[in-house]
Amino acid sequence: MSAVRARLGVLVSGSGSNLQALLDACAREDFPAEVACVVSNVPTAFALERARKAGVPAVVLEHKAFASRADFERALGEALRRAGVEWVCLAGFMRLLSADFLAGFSGRVLNIHPALLPAFPGLHAQRQALERGVKIAGCTVHFVDAGTDTGPIIAQAAVPVLPGDDEASLSARILAEEHRLYPLAVRLAVTGKVTLEGARTRVDARATVGELSLRSPGAPP
Ligand code: GAR
Repeated sequence: MSAVRARLGVLVSGSGSNLQALLDACAREDFPAEVACVVSNVPTAFALERARKAGVPAVVLEHKAFASRADFERALGEALRRAGVEWVCLAGFMRLLSADFLAGFSGRVLNIHPALLPAFPGLHAQRQALERGVKIAGCTVHFVDAGTDTGPIIAQAAVPVLPGDDEASLSARILAEEHRLYPLAVRLAVTGKVTLEGARTRVDARATVGELSLRSPGAPP
């Protein structure tokens, strides 16, 4: 008998390579989650193609078509609930979500960000990292609160910044780690190994350091 799998709703705005990483993980029998639906606020997002190809229901909700953020979020919440979504994963979803919306999925909204938070929240995180001359960059999966990339951290992956890196090369190195990290962090969250308690994460004794902090294969020892 197969175990009950957590139902994910994945929110996207762009290419959807992180969605693809989640779809690929969910295709494995031992993965404790499945993608129940994909919602894009951008009608041309390539992520929608990925969802269709995987046979996952995809919905377009263009935020601009709604009179207010509250109306957009109401429609978003309805679409997710109609699909039986229990966990919401932001995967390159470029909209902030209000505290009201988040309360409907309390402790069950995750985001991936291409920086070692709390450094470099917001847009162009990789460019910000290069401009500040950091030597170690990376990505973070965190619980979402109403701020910009401010929620409590679940797991992180580090990559080296190499001499000669530009925004494109650093972004590609980080993205490869994002694809490893997001499924791992989803597994930690849906199995209750990492939970949100108030404004902090609580890490269960079953979670290993190797699951919580990844190092890229190319990283110096
Ligand atoms: C990813 O690098 C993700 O971390 C970033 O957008 C990209 C989406 O790529 N998200 C943020 O910057 C959120 N603050 P994808 O569409 O190929 O997954």
